[in-house]
Amino acid sequence: MEVLKPGDIVLMVGADGRRRLITLQENQSYHTHRGTIPHSELIGKPPGRVVSTQLGYPYLVLEPGVADLIRNIKRITQIVYPKDAAYIVMRLNLSAGKRVLEAGTGSGGLTIALAKAVMPGGHVVSCEVRGDIHRLAARNLEKLGLLPYVTLFNRDLSEGCDVQYVDAVFLDMKEPWQHLDYVEEALRPGGFFGSLLPTTNQVSALLDGLSQHNFMDISVEELLLRPYKPVAERLRPTDRMIAHSGYLIFARRVETSDEARRWFSPIRRMHRDKYLGKGEGEEDA
Ligand SMILES: C[S@@+](CC[C@H](N)C(=O)[O-])C[C@H]1O[C@@H](n2cnc3c(N)ncnc32)[C@H](O)[C@@H]1O
Repeated sequence: MEVLKPGDIVLMVGADGRRRLITLQENQSYHTHRGTIPHSELIGKPPGRVVSTQLGYPYLVLEPGVADLIRNIKRITQIVYPKDAAYIVMRLNLSAGKRVLEAGTGSGGLTIALAKAVMPGGHVVSCEVRGDIHRLAARNLEKLGLLPYVTLFNRDLSEGCDVQYVDAVFLDMKEPWQHLDYVEEALRPGGFFGSLLPTTNQVSALLDGLSQHNFMDISVEELLLRPYKPVAERLRPTDRMIAHSGYLIFARRVETSDEARRWFSPIRRMHRDKYLGKGEGEEDA
């Protein structure tokens, strides 16, 4: 983005820390309780500048990052936080050109990160059972110009999403274990599977489900992000942090047999390690 043009989305950051996304339009102004800034003062100029309202109140004009886009969408569901979304993109091995299936779409928070990762050559297919939530996600993605990279279905995942051989599948829904037959069909052998679940009993149910399907190389993880107050002379963590967003479960879809799966089962491995006298977490040489 060398200079800003009509249609571009910019992030306005006030001196009080408030952050708002706006879409630039000719003859429009950014209205704040501390005055206005005509969009014409931004169009044709580069981002990364400070511009003031007619009352002299300064705003930082920035090109938004993916985390800003996710944080600022309208939402009626819990969204995947940027810290988890970034890690999910890496664990699903997404890059330009990949094809990924997601359910449920929710407000489209994770869809933004998935689309940004696979564009321009790749595609996200996303499935949402509730009509009102599906429509909100469509509006959120349209505003950000991401709809060319996403196909949204308003249906239950159990009805299928017309995809085969996708590179990755991510499920952020209550009972992902109910959909593993379909995920197995849709995901190419060797493909990447992931899910986010808020409670441990759901994680156990998913682990049971994965062990009865063709998934291996399974992991359960959780990310804690501790933000700091960026004041050099009084550097310390902020008073509050998000203590829990969700557990992240990842696995690979494989062609295998029950017998082979038993050899890789975590319980068998635990007993084997005990027998070989290895400590927990110690790897084979
Ligand atoms: C926590 S939200 C997903 C949030 C989304 N990942 C985001 O970042 O905005 C879970 C969504 O899954 C949807 N859902 C639940 N079961 C579903 C199913 N069987 N098929 C499709 N969507 C489903 C719910 O309606 C809900 O909108």
